[in-house]
Amino acid sequence: MKILFATPECAPFVKTGGLGDVSGALPQALERLGHDVRVLMPAYGGMKVDGDVEGSVDLPGEGHWPAAQLITVQTPTVKLLLLSCPALFDRAGGPYVAPGGQDHHDNAFRFGFLSRVAARIGLPSTPLAGWQADVVHANDWPCGLAPLYLADWRSPLPRGQRAAGVVTIHNIAFQGIFPMATADVLQIPWHWRGMDAVEFWGQMSMLKGALQFSDAITTVSPTYADEIRTEAFGVGLHGVLQAQSHKLTGILNGIDTAVWNPRTDPLLVQNFGAADLAARQANKAALQAHCALALDRSAMLFGVVSRLTSQKGIDLVLQLLPRMVEHGAQLVVLGQGEPWLHEALQAAAQRHPRSVSANFAFDEGLAHNIEAGIDCFLMPSRFEPCGLNQMYSQAYGAPPIVAPTGGLKDSVVDADADRLHGSGFVMKTADAAGFEDAVLRAFAAFADKDRWQRIQRNGMDRDFGWDRSAQQYVRVYEAALAAARG
Ligand code: ADP
Ligand code: GLC
Repeated sequence: MKILFATPECAPFVKTGGLGDVSGALPQALERLGHDVRVLMPAYGGMKVDGDVEGSVDLPGEGHWPAAQLITVQTPTVKLLLLSCPALFDRAGGPYVAPGGQDHHDNAFRFGFLSRVAARIGLPSTPLAGWQADVVHANDWPCGLAPLYLADWRSPLPRGQRAAGVVTIHNIAFQGIFPMATADVLQIPWHWRGMDAVEFWGQMSMLKGALQFSDAITTVSPTYADEIRTEAFGVGLHGVLQAQSHKLTGILNGIDTAVWNPRTDPLLVQNFGAADLAARQANKAALQAHCALALDRSAMLFGVVSRLTSQKGIDLVLQLLPRMVEHGAQLVVLGQGEPWLHEALQAAAQRHPRSVSANFAFDEGLAHNIEAGIDCFLMPSRFEPCGLNQMYSQAYGAPPIVAPTGGLKDSVVDADADRLHGSGFVMKTADAAGFEDAVLRAFAAFADKDRWQRIQRNGMDRDFGWDRSAQQYVRVYEAALAAARG
């Protein structure tokens, strides 16, 4: 199949979170299965891409839509289609926000344009000579209008020429909601502005549009696929998802084992594997030194690498932290996000400088060294569509403590519930009491060295690679194509 993987971010070129990792790895796994995959993303200013430029086509402007270029670059990992339109994508800040942290004012137009170009590549008149996608796979709200434009434009085509539209929800908390007037600018057909299409409480929702017009919907874990059909987790879209249940599948993310492998990871102070766990100690010592923590081998060192938002349950960590420190624990946090969490973490680090280290940067190298140097990873998220760090930490011998939600539930085996296979600690309840109980259970297990090593090895021996999940995506694509072609 020819698969167009449309995304606003892709590691290692541009990454703000897990979607970047998924976009960097899943297309490669699909290629390994023999499919022809191109990753469409904006050419953001300042982005570094190594690879061979294979060609470039001009996209003429139409009406108020700007002229742009599509540049094909074969990188060492994926084949990129860079959408170059400096007026929209070459500016200061990140993919979604300006330097001050507020959204770029024209995000609807920027990502509406990305979606439009994605849909065009699914038509026989594709701008890429001869390369018409069979499947246009849109990721999250920034690509959400792609399935809608595609459904509109393909309708007059003979069935055999229709591409399928697939959308993946990485986080339903982000929906791309804009004033309804935006629908004019985005040229959304009039008959698709109602509540059975993009309308959402008087506004327009790009994600809702994707859910209504895709041939298949996926999300990033089986448990989250169930959760988002409930009022508690659906962020207003649970009704739509209930109605579209027949086309919704939960597929657990994998991890890129070429990047996240402690035996070969070039970013680590010391490589190690399940058979030589003792070698891991050098990473712990180096991390303690780097973070100016007490150089104490026996202190249980906890870690967090995360966006610092209320989603991630960092407040639960802050609440229990004084007692954990009293118990001799240390904590390293790496993250960026909401100012109140920065302030609270900064204050904790100032109170306990030899036990708590707070790092507010986006630092890939430190993220890897935290996974390799800590004893235990903390991820008590309020909701977590999939989560990648709990998988990285298991692969790196740092058993995680996780909330019983979403992909966390689907990827961690509780070490008390299953003494033989346990690879971490799953909170019994998603609250402060559940977190405290899990931390106490982890302390108890850590005190028993043999038991702890068994838990570490169980995690390190698990297969979190992408291959199985990529096969599930292929089945979804096939079903979507069958639906599109009737
Ligand atoms: P989410 O996508 O909700 O942020 P995930 O666990 O799926 O959560 O993915 C987060 C990804 O971003 C992981 O690869 C994690 O290591 C990375 N990450 C998050 N914050 C930072 C940071 N401050 N520095 C480096 N990497 C980070
Ligand atoms: C989102 C989710 C996270 C998931 C990631 C990649 O950012 O918050 O749980 O792992 O997307 O799918």
